[in-house]
Amino acid sequence: MNFEKAEFESAAGLLNQLPDSTVPEIVFSGRSNVGKSSLINKVLNRKSLARTSAKPGKTGTINFYKTPDCRLVDLPGYGYARVSHSEKLRWAELVEGYFHAQRKIGLVVQIIDMRHQPTEDDLHMIDFLLHSGLPFVVAATKSDKLKKTERETQLQLLNEIFKQQLEFIPFSAVNGEGVEEIRARITAVCSK
Ligand code: GTP
Ligand code: MG
Repeated sequence: MNFEKAEFESAAGLLNQLPDSTVPEIVFSGRSNVGKSSLINKVLNRKSLARTSAKPGKTGTINFYKTPDCRLVDLPGYGYARVSHSEKLRWAELVEGYFHAQRKIGLVVQIIDMRHQPTEDDLHMIDFLLHSGLPFVVAATKSDKLKKTERETQLQLLNEIFKQQLEFIPFSAVNGEGVEEIRARITAVCSK
């Protein structure tokens, strides 16, 4: 797939603003500030196509990026404590609505922070994915922030928590670790 040809397509703050589901969608999900937008940019080899921010809660809409054969979908992050209750409800409705809209979802890239234990919300999301039957991979991001031994400990912990059921792709938007693996997974879906 030609990743550099991606363009911003649209942003949906409400369910009725979702674009028609015509091409396979690659969905990026994870808690607020985990690095979803940074991962998308790294995969597309674009500096700032997806807006990133050191402040959590930046992406409050579902953002769609189109490529020649596919669509990349940047979901608003969950679990950010400092947005209002009504905003949280709106995001939850939007994301749940998206997943229940019978769209052509080709792959979900679930992103967790490799430095920490998965949050309650991460565990809920992964549980949902396991039961949904949707194809997904888990990217463990910010790997550049861990020393070799810390990294091994964290990966071991993740494998214990998920009873070896899941595949983790260590990822870093800083040094590019894991980017080729994620591109390969996307290409496999988009070039079908
Ligand atoms: P929301 O849109 O608010 O949900 O956030 P997001 O998940 O899109 O996170 P974003 O990509 O905006 O990144 C959040 C912060 O983490 C930014 O300061 C990034 O520079 C930083 N960050 C993202 N990925 C990495 C990484 O792999 N390594 C390091 N060291 N920092 C990262
Ligand atoms: Mg974002």
